[in-house]
Amino acid sequence: MKNIRASFGTRMGAIAASVGSAVGLGNIWRFPYQAGENGGGAYILVYLLCVVLLGIPVIMSEFIIGRSTHKNIQGALRQLSPGSKIHYFAYFCVLGAIVICSFYSVVCGWVIEYLYQAATGALAGHGSEDYGRFFADFVGSPVRCVLWTILFLCINFAVMTLGVRRGVEGVSRVMMPLLFVILIVFCANSLMLPGSHKGLDFLFSPNFKALGWEGVVDAMGQAFMSLSLGVAALVTFSSYFSDDTPLMKDAVTIASLDSLVALLAGVLIFPAVFSFGFEPTAGPKLVFEVLPAVFYQMPGGYWWAILFFLLLFFASLTSTISLSEIPITFLTEEFKMSRGLATLCCAVVVIAIATLCALSFNVLSDVTVAGMNIFSLLDFVGSNVFMLLGGLFTAIYVGWFLRKKVIKDQLAVKGRTSSLTYNYVLVCLRYVAPVAILIILYYYVTA
Ligand code: PHE
Repeated sequence: MKNIRASFGTRMGAIAASVGSAVGLGNIWRFPYQAGENGGGAYILVYLLCVVLLGIPVIMSEFIIGRSTHKNIQGALRQLSPGSKIHYFAYFCVLGAIVICSFYSVVCGWVIEYLYQAATGALAGHGSEDYGRFFADFVGSPVRCVLWTILFLCINFAVMTLGVRRGVEGVSRVMMPLLFVILIVFCANSLMLPGSHKGLDFLFSPNFKALGWEGVVDAMGQAFMSLSLGVAALVTFSSYFSDDTPLMKDAVTIASLDSLVALLAGVLIFPAVFSFGFEPTAGPKLVFEVLPAVFYQMPGGYWWAILFFLLLFFASLTSTISLSEIPITFLTEEFKMSRGLATLCCAVVVIAIATLCALSFNVLSDVTVAGMNIFSLLDFVGSNVFMLLGGLFTAIYVGWFLRKKVIKDQLAVKGRTSSLTYNYVLVCLRYVAPVAILIILYYYVTA
């Protein structure tokens, strides 16, 4: 008898889960500060171009591999290229997902700490300069950092034990709409603050001088990170899609919603930052050191702070869920483990590595490789090596090696494949994406 494989219950659920994967710290934490540092509107313009030329085609390449086979990444590649060694790429993806999930969870742990401190009221009432010290004290405390990281991962893996429909889809279907509601309420509030137009000007007026080549490369890398590309997250999710879903339409919807959240995060942050006279180019510290000071200057600051960190929590949990699903599906299908055992194995490994990352800001801060602590090293390897090389592989594999019939069948809507869609996907996968990725890699290696 054939095993009945899990699948998403509805198309809405499938989209919610994929948007949940895409929308994460990348949108709310990284995108705004990168836009802030790299010329606002100029960066946004280049970013959106990257989404169209790189992001959507590479999403499609992952969707084609996953949906045509309904298997985990290894099973899928074995079925699509029987007898070849290409399926070993699965190990690369699984390792990449574990590495990314590990350092990412440490930041999610910070989010829970801030949520907790905001709820107890302890985050409030500091002078604006004190938030830097508050953050430094916190990451300097091994026990707090490790405990929050582990708590976050326990919540994440508890959801994973519930399975694809109840866990992954169920959580995304609740959290994604809530995330949009919170974002919109926040943006409306920011826009009503006095002087908010200065923030909008800063975010949207294009300053190409401040962008430079570095900004262009950052925008390309950000598109990969934000759309969850390169480590088979979307191969795994699309293996649970139903056969009649119009893939191209879904890919465009996911990329659009993801970009919308990134832009709304900018609209939430910059008008408020300007309105209260803070520094908009604070970089990665923006969310943890500048925003708390901003919130507590607003009327109802207690609630705004809680709401903001809740927003970050929802966004990040649905992303780590998608990262965890990659090794779990792989273990259940390739090693015939039960879902419970597979989840436990992943949890043990990710918790161990994440603990090292959390300790790299305090007890293990002396352990460095090429000048980077363990956290920064895994961040660097995860974002630059795994996602980019993985994206390069899937683009080249689908663009040059996969049978054209498979691509056409997957692109078909009601039995017809639009030649415009087919050519757009193929040209971008064959030429645009590989060249762009090689440029980014070259830039990172020589920088
Ligand atoms: N896209 C997520 C974010 O923007 C991160 C992520 C990367 C999730 C790779 C899954 C896979 O934060």
